[in-house]
Amino acid sequence: MRKIAVLNQKGGVGKTTTSVNLAAAMAGAGKTVCLMDLDPQAHASSHLGVTAARGMNTLYDMLIRQTPWSQTRLNTEPNLWVTPSSLDLAAAEVELSGVVGREMILRDLVNAEPDPFDLLVLDCAPSLGVLTLNALTCVDEVIIPLQPHFLALHGLGKLLETTSLVTKRLNPGLKVTCVVLTLCDMHTKLTHEIVEDIQRFLEKSRGGSTPWADARLCSTRVRRNIKLAESPSFGKSIFGYAPTCHGAEDYALLAQEILDLKPALFTAGEHAAAPTAPDRLKLLDGLDTQPAPLAKAG
Ligand SMILES: Nc1ncnc2c1ncn2[C@@H]1O[C@H](COP(=O)(O)OP(=O)(O)OP(=O)(O)O)[C@@H](O)[C@H]1O
Ligand SMILES: [Mg+2]
Repeated sequence: MRKIAVLNQKGGVGKTTTSVNLAAAMAGAGKTVCLMDLDPQAHASSHLGVTAARGMNTLYDMLIRQTPWSQTRLNTEPNLWVTPSSLDLAAAEVELSGVVGREMILRDLVNAEPDPFDLLVLDCAPSLGVLTLNALTCVDEVIIPLQPHFLALHGLGKLLETTSLVTKRLNPGLKVTCVVLTLCDMHTKLTHEIVEDIQRFLEKSRGGSTPWADARLCSTRVRRNIKLAESPSFGKSIFGYAPTCHGAEDYALLAQEILDLKPALFTAGEHAAAPTAPDRLKLLDGLDTQPAPLAKAG
């Protein structure tokens, strides 16, 4: 089972839209998929029409009561299951504060089952707290959605540093697989500049021992599309709501691109030489391409 966390601690960059529509696209492509909602806002759950009702098990029950994963998921459409969230999850951070091994609860419950799906997709909250650490300890891969605007790259260093610390302490196999540009206004100068900056940074990281040493920028860009913004109110993925719009087209392509990625097979030689774009935004310049030293752990 491929386990993927969709993560960026920055709010509103398209994590939930990407998690839901990637999961739905992969399910549509014949893969069995479970979407897990790790955000107390529960937007991924409601996007697929699931609102935690009294008596329904949620991710909160998994983390706090060790309720088995098999009892916390619902089948919402062919090939697609959801482990929902609820507002209770906001309290989990505090309730788990004194619990030894709290970052590993989700991993242990997921590993207790013999791979029931082809893919597990985790929609993370916009934070780097204990819920996100549970996600990073559970998965093999991280996908980072990024909105190409002026401050897009701020905070990326902290996010990557967190993945690096997780590989040292909790999950040595964790890899950042790709960065996905979301909410794209195509053909703007700024989008091109950000693409160049990310590519330059990723090329510089090749061959190192960081979790992002093999990461790539997805060639599929998710365009800004009003149907993507409308579909959550109808409790449907973009494929149920407007299957022929640009948004559906982009997420179907992105899902195929990610299904085709084989992170372990990447080698430095496969990648083109670093682009020679002039330094413009310099937002990534302070970010070390090598692993953060343990002293920075905090
Ligand atoms: N490609 C797109 N085109 C138009 N609207 C979009 C697109 N992607 C996301 N949106 C809208 O932008 C808003 C933020 O998206 P989303 O909820 O997916 O971000 P998020 O990163 O999950 O936010 P949060 O950090 O709060 O969890 C939502 O209203 C969503 O419907
Ligand atoms: Mg979200």
